Amino acid sequence: MDTQKLLFTVLCFFLLFLLSGEQVVQARLAHHHHHRLFDFRPSKLFVFGDSYADTGNNKKSEANSWKYPYGITFPGKPAGRYSDGRVLTDFLAKFIGLKSPIPYRLREDGVNDLKYGMNFAFGGTGVFKTLVSYPNMTTQIDFFQELIKTNALNTTDVESSVALVTLSGNDYSAYEVRNGTTQGFPSFITSVVKQLKVNLKRIHGLGVKKIAVTALQPLGCLPRSTIKSSFQQCNGTENSLVSFHNLLLQQAVAKLNNDTKVSTFVILNLYDSFMFVLKNKGDQTGSTKFENPLKPCCGGISSEYYCGSVDVNGTKKYTVCDDPESAFFWDSVHPTQEGWSAVYSALQTTLEQL
Ligand SMILES: *[C@@H]1O[C@H](CO)[C@@H](O)[C@H](O)[C@H]1NC(C)=O
Ligand SMILES: *[C@@H]1O[C@H](CO)[C@@H](O)[C@H](O)[C@H]1NC(C)=O
Ligand SMILES: *[C@@H]1O[C@H](CO)[C@@H](O)[C@H](O)[C@H]1NC(C)=O
Ligand SMILES: *[C@@H]1O[C@H](CO)[C@@H](O)[C@H](O)[C@H]1NC(C)=O
Ligand SMILES: *[C@@H]1O[C@H](CO)[C@@H](O)[C@H](O)[C@H]1NC(C)=O
Ligand SMILES: *[C@@H]1O[C@H](CO)[C@@H](O)[C@H](O)[C@H]1NC(C)=O
Repeated sequence: MDTQKLLFTVLCFFLLFLLSGEQVVQARLAHHHHHRLFDFRPSKLFVFGDSYADTGNNKKSEANSWKYPYGITFPGKPAGRYSDGRVLTDFLAKFIGLKSPIPYRLREDGVNDLKYGMNFAFGGTGVFKTLVSYPNMTTQIDFFQELIKTNALNTTDVESSVALVTLSGNDYSAYEVRNGTTQGFPSFITSVVKQLKVNLKRIHGLGVKKIAVTALQPLGCLPRSTIKSSFQQCNGTENSLVSFHNLLLQQAVAKLNNDTKVSTFVILNLYDSFMFVLKNKGDQTGSTKFENPLKPCCGGISSEYYCGSVDVNGTKKYTVCDDPESAFFWDSVHPTQEGWSAVYSALQTTLEQL
């Protein structure tokens, strides 16, 4: 693939959008003092997206997240989270002052199912068809809508809720696998962000007043990319594409907020927060330290195996570090609980400034 040509295309897109990007920043600054993230007390959290937010929706028989050593830090055994412990959803719930909502697939149609909201996020999914057959974001929102239609949720419930939407790149992985190259990426990125915008608008249309959406994390810094350099260097080409996605997202969100007249939509900038933590090798307080933040705690013993892989005899084909707290990444794409904690603490500064 012609990397230079790709970069050039991306840069052209950047130049094209630079002016409007600047207006976006100014508009955000102008509104700075009028909005807080939550100007009401949220009573529920509804979550849509992928493995960065999933807390147990994927099938036990299929997903890594239900296999040892996932979940060893929290809750102490595999329980459907793609980490050794807590993930973004859990930290955001804590920020709002709620318990982490129950995963949709684990609901029991009891009165307490919806007490703290509900988590509709399925690991491996995106806005379009990805490499897994789990419900895409559109279908996840359908599940939410169905709960409103059947009066399991009333207007008050929905209007006093917050939504978290994660999109961590499964659409892009699927595109790359299906197409074999990253050519045509800029226009695909445009269609992904367009669909994401449709989804965000729909969640708002159903009555949710505050919606936090993640910017794409630096994909080029994930262990699956940095393994080529023995976890020493991020892939700049991939990160440029990520920046393009994030620029489009910022513009889409600015437009949505202008349309709703209030800041309904808030971007959780996972790009900046991941980068901050990776550069500082820890959180800003210095209490968390990651020796080599690019190196994952858990991984397959060779490229055909993953964290959690076992052979037919049950012999493990992966290694786990002694201390997950000293690693930023848990596996080839997901942060550890300590990693998420550091990201959350970097995000909180941003949140409190809003
Ligand atoms: C999401 O999945 C449903 C069910 O498979 C499908 O009908 C729909 O077209 C998908 N949505 C998008 C935007 O790809
Ligand atoms: C909505 O449902 C909640 C329970 O989730 C209940 O406490 C509240 O009274 C209901 N509000 C209305 C207007 O029906
Ligand atoms: C693959 O890339 C080509 C070239 O940009 C594009 O025309 C085509 O639509 C892509 N195919 C898929 C399946 O996305
Ligand atoms: C960076 O990523 C691109 C796109 O996935 C890939 O083609 C390229 O080989 C990678 N570069 C390095 C140095 O790994
Ligand atoms: C913002 O909304 C106003 C109408 O309320 C419209 O005139 C203006 O063009 C919009 N600006 C952008 C950047 O969408
Ligand atoms: C599994 O165990 C059997 C019996 O001990 C052995 O013959 C076989 O080679 C083992 N398979 C693998 C993949 O290690």
